[in-house]
Amino acid sequence: MTSSVPRLPVLGWRSLRLRRSQSYPASVLARGQPVFVSSGRAAIYHALRSLAVGPGDRILVPTYHCPTMVAPIARLGAEPLFYAIDRTAGADLGWLNEIDLRGVKAMIAVHFFGIPQALGRVQAFCRERGIALIEDCAHAFFGRCGATPVGASGDFVIASLPKFFPSTEGGCLFVTAQAGRGVSLMQPGMLAELRAVFDVLELGVQHGRLGVLGSALNAVLSVKRRLRRSRDGAASTRLQLDAGDPAAWLDEAALERSALRVSRLLVAYTHAERLIARRRANYERWRTALENVEGAQPLFPDLPEGAVPYVFPLKVQQADGVYQKLRARGVPVFRWDIAWPGVPRLEGDHGREWLTDVFQLGCHQELSESDVLGLAEIVRTALVRH
Ligand SMILES: Cc1ncc(COP(=O)(O)O)c(C=O)c1O
Repeated sequence: MTSSVPRLPVLGWRSLRLRRSQSYPASVLARGQPVFVSSGRAAIYHALRSLAVGPGDRILVPTYHCPTMVAPIARLGAEPLFYAIDRTAGADLGWLNEIDLRGVKAMIAVHFFGIPQALGRVQAFCRERGIALIEDCAHAFFGRCGATPVGASGDFVIASLPKFFPSTEGGCLFVTAQAGRGVSLMQPGMLAELRAVFDVLELGVQHGRLGVLGSALNAVLSVKRRLRRSRDGAASTRLQLDAGDPAAWLDEAALERSALRVSRLLVAYTHAERLIARRRANYERWRTALENVEGAQPLFPDLPEGAVPYVFPLKVQQADGVYQKLRARGVPVFRWDIAWPGVPRLEGDHGREWLTDVFQLGCHQELSESDVLGLAEIVRTALVRH
């Protein structure tokens, strides 16, 4: 059953609507017109480049991180300065107030898991010190904290499209008008656009989300699939590279091009209200199914009202063994155990431990109730038997 469960949203019959919605729910788009880039990491890269970040500069990054957040910093010759996070996944300002901040040019603050953080104090901290705030909405394209939509606080805001939309690439960067003039991108070629359309359709077909049309398309797509297999071989070799090497995480050509047209169209035509309702419902299903399970605790048992979750975060004891079991069963679960080299142990920090112990379980809009309940049963069994 799990082989048909998509890790990220794929195109299904009900994913889109025929007309662009007139009023979009609270989201990063409230910020204005984004620069569409090829990924969230490319958005971070361009934010840093707009700030003329280079050798000798330091950038604040949480100890809980994906290497794709640090690679753009290293690519520009700057240094990450890892900061502690508290149990709410927010920046530990008490800790930050105590450290030497010389050479710090920017801070990346993240709405982890799609739980919006109140960033007022972080914003004030940055302003007082002349540090640019990069609000990382890779996990939170939608949502609000109280009345404040995600994306309203940063000098720069970045987002990642495949985590919320059935696109295979793409990211957004919001900048002040002045800084935005520095971002100039190449348009992708027609071949890349066509390939992306096929990729989007193929993922929907493979996961059985496109019904009868899907079966018809399958024959056409099988030719492309054969070609793809040889390409995938090459891609997996690249991942063998050193975790601290920016080249392992960044595609140089993609950094300089804008997002594909199909990705932008998917943002415009996705049924956002359906996406929000289904993600919230799936999150609640995970919570109910794993309540009181032995060997694990939900990190955020109560989903805040304005949150549109990216994943359901579960903190697991004996994490290594359980993780291997779940991957082997095809459960769409991630953790960030490949960290950037040199993540320090900091007083009172939760982030470093979360790298291995927090499982990010999929709760996206294309998972049905029975998908989530089936997956939760596998997780529960793996935990109990461990
Ligand atoms: C918090 C966070 N920021 C940025 C990124 C980079 O996004 P992308 O994968 O679109 O490059 C990720 C990717 O997982 C992420 O988790």
